[in-house]
Amino acid sequence: MKAVYLIGFMGSGKTSISQLLAEKLMVQGLDTDREIEQKARQTIPEIFEQQGEAAFREQETAILTNMPVSDAVIATGGGIVESSWNRNWLKENVYVVYLHASFEEIDRRLGVDPSRPLWNKHDKSALYEHRLEKYRQTAHSIVKTDGKSPEQVAEEIYQLIINNKTVMLGI
Ligand code: S3P
Repeated sequence: MKAVYLIGFMGSGKTSISQLLAEKLMVQGLDTDREIEQKARQTIPEIFEQQGEAAFREQETAILTNMPVSDAVIATGGGIVESSWNRNWLKENVYVVYLHASFEEIDRRLGVDPSRPLWNKHDKSALYEHRLEKYRQTAHSIVKTDGKSPEQVAEEIYQLIINNKTVMLGI
């Protein structure tokens, strides 16, 4: 099975949905942020604070390149689509699902989240608008998540996958 990569803004539910989907598909579930933290032996806020965003992005690309392209479900960091290299890698190598949540829903879910350095630093709606087109361009499928539970979204993607064998087999 081609690996499934979940992309989307912070707070769109990538981590929890990836775990549920991995269980349903009986494959491993991974998260690029956790891989970066393990390798750097620092948390994401520490990396941003001590090394800066550019260094974080370099580590993110290095991790992405070494992630599985088959038999896995991967949750990615919300900014993975900032790099055109990452966008091309995703588009060409794996099955990419964009978890779309409205700005209002994201704002409500995240509130003030100290573990998300970019959410607190930026003009939130500008960052959201800036990312939208990149998520759309990179995705093979788009799933709307507003008002849905993680279980419902995972089931929707699962159905998409089992009814869309050509994409999954990479034919
Ligand atoms: C980021 C999102 C975060 C994390 C880092 C940068 C972003 O991941 O990678 O804080 O640029 O949107 P989540 O989307 O899992 O919060």
